Amino acid sequence: MKIAILPGDGIGTEIMAEAVKVLGALDLGFDTETALVGGAAYEAHGHPLPESTLSLAKAADAVLFGAVGDWKYDKLERALRPEQAILGLRKHLGLFANFRPAICYEELTHASSLKPELIAGLDILIIRELTGDIYFGQPRGRRTAVDGHFPGAEEAFDTMRYSRPEIERIAHVAFQAARKRRGKVTSVDKANVLETFQFWKDVVTEVHRSYPDVELEHMYVDNAAMQLVRAPKKFDVVVTGNMFGDILSDEAAMLTGSIGMLPSASLDQRNKGLYEPSHGSAPDIAGKGVANPLATILSAAMMLRFSLNQPEAADRIESAVQAVLAAGLRTGDIWSEGTRRVGTREMGDAVLAALTGKTITKS
Ligand code: IPM
Ligand code: MG
Repeated sequence: MKIAILPGDGIGTEIMAEAVKVLGALDLGFDTETALVGGAAYEAHGHPLPESTLSLAKAADAVLFGAVGDWKYDKLERALRPEQAILGLRKHLGLFANFRPAICYEELTHASSLKPELIAGLDILIIRELTGDIYFGQPRGRRTAVDGHFPGAEEAFDTMRYSRPEIERIAHVAFQAARKRRGKVTSVDKANVLETFQFWKDVVTEVHRSYPDVELEHMYVDNAAMQLVRAPKKFDVVVTGNMFGDILSDEAAMLTGSIGMLPSASLDQRNKGLYEPSHGSAPDIAGKGVANPLATILSAAMMLRFSLNQPEAADRIESAVQAVLAAGLRTGDIWSEGTRRVGTREMGDAVLAALTGKTITKS
């Protein structure tokens, strides 16, 4: 088994070092190989997703990804910007199913901007379609308008589109995930306005016939955005398209107040996957040793569970993270009065100690 390690930019390298340390301590006999991606790859090879990185990712059994991006690349042409690396990996590896859990850890209930009673015990799973929709739809570009409100004016356009098989496969993923949870799927669309999402709703409804044991509800995306902050615990699995999923998954992550805690998985048809923290590269705190490595460490746990068939090792990592939180250790993003503020490396060391059965000192 081989794991491709792609730390990326900003805090990516710091948080990845901790996850690699934790994986190493499990002694599972996996090979790891590290490669550049994002801005770091652009600096070294002139491209955010060099051929060598892509072929490593393709050959590996799983990919552990840090984060990419930095404001300093904002002026580059689109094809060379760091974000293209993650979009390219999703596309070339066929990673159509994105799992973004939003879990509220008991110890961190106060970290949310919502009232504690609204989010205590929160456990929802956003399943975002990841290789279609307006993100990848062709044609797109700039041109001179021939119609519309201003014929003859310069305009830009993108194409929102979904095919039946694309919707069917993500719907199956959602219903199967719900079966292992609380048995409810909310399919989020904009069927009241968009042809693409009327089709989405129709196809999800058809697929649902094979899952009579799962409850299906449909919700417009604007209402879903509202319900997520009004009564988030009413959701179990939320399934939606690429664009709406991008937005709602950030909203759901922030409900917990600790985006630094949330892992994610992006899977292909055969459960090969790319695993990454839900947060970004945070260039403002990069290199300071203060970033929270737990989302990346928990992403490694998800990787062990979904792609590498090591559920016990995944459990061990997750319990170790729980133990560290219970002992009161906190990076700055989740720190509160009465807890102990630690840096990136100290947090990784604490998880490692908990894994290997050492006791964690509270202060
Ligand atoms: C995400 C990110 C990406 C996306 C960007 C970096 C291209 O926001 O993974 O949610 O829009 O999908
Ligand atoms: Mg996003």
